[in-house]
Amino acid sequence: MSIRKSDAAFHLRSQSPFATHFVMSQKRIRICRTDGLPQPTYYVQALQTEFAPWAFCEKRSVLNKGQWATQVFADSSSAPIDLEIGTGNGIHFAHYAEQNPKRNLIGIEWKFKPLIQSIRRALNHGAKNARIVRYDAGFPDHLFAAGELDRVMIHFPDPWPKEKQKKHRLINDAFLTTLFKLQKKGAELEFKTDNRDYFDWAMECFERSAYQQTSITYDLHNSDYQSENFVTHFEKIFLKQGLPIHRATFQVPG
Ligand SMILES: C[S@@+](CC[C@H](N)C(=O)[O-])C[C@H]1O[C@@H](n2cnc3c(N)ncnc32)[C@H](O)[C@@H]1O
Repeated sequence: MSIRKSDAAFHLRSQSPFATHFVMSQKRIRICRTDGLPQPTYYVQALQTEFAPWAFCEKRSVLNKGQWATQVFADSSSAPIDLEIGTGNGIHFAHYAEQNPKRNLIGIEWKFKPLIQSIRRALNHGAKNARIVRYDAGFPDHLFAAGELDRVMIHFPDPWPKEKQKKHRLINDAFLTTLFKLQKKGAELEFKTDNRDYFDWAMECFERSAYQQTSITYDLHNSDYQSENFVTHFEKIFLKQGLPIHRATFQVPG
């Protein structure tokens, strides 16, 4: 399989594994290279060996753009491909894959430990339909072609609460414009957070986007949507702290 020129267009700023940023145009991917890390942990090694059939490092993951169904999920190539962004330790990721055997699931996670925890948990649950990629979720178009994705789930992304940090928030106008094109017509998107300021910010971004809102609640666990909800790892932590969970769902019209 050859690397398309557009996918290969980003390059390492320097050959040192500590000079950690890929550069593409003006946007910066905030992940280090997996290859050549001087002291690879168990999780780094596991990504490259034991879990390599199901887990893709940043270099391998972009090779599947537009070909996830045919190359990766060849045995279930007509099944929809769903995406979970920021899987954390994979409690939801594994549950979702197990509960939806007729769908395929890809997780994006940039940290080695939660990435391996997620795929290991899914495999332990007997899921054959789950894969995980190590990538910066801010660049989904490096990984997927237009219309390649069905449902997208974004659960408790880092809130970057300080004014100066808000530029790091995953959800922004450009991100939604990009993600919208990657989802099929009629596909859904779910967003949950405990952070009210981020929620309000995100709702404004969604309002400016082409997504159509299908539901919204500022207190998921005291709402009609509670019964269909699966509590993620971070959600459990926030619930213990007595924080209300905000959730909204959207659809790609069509
Ligand atoms: C607050 S945790 C939430 C984990 C999980 N969704 C849950 O609800 O329990 C956010 C996760 O997203 C990952 N993450 C944050 N920014 C990311 C990015 N730009 N690309 C990929 N993963 C990212 C973090 O490493 C972390 O595991």
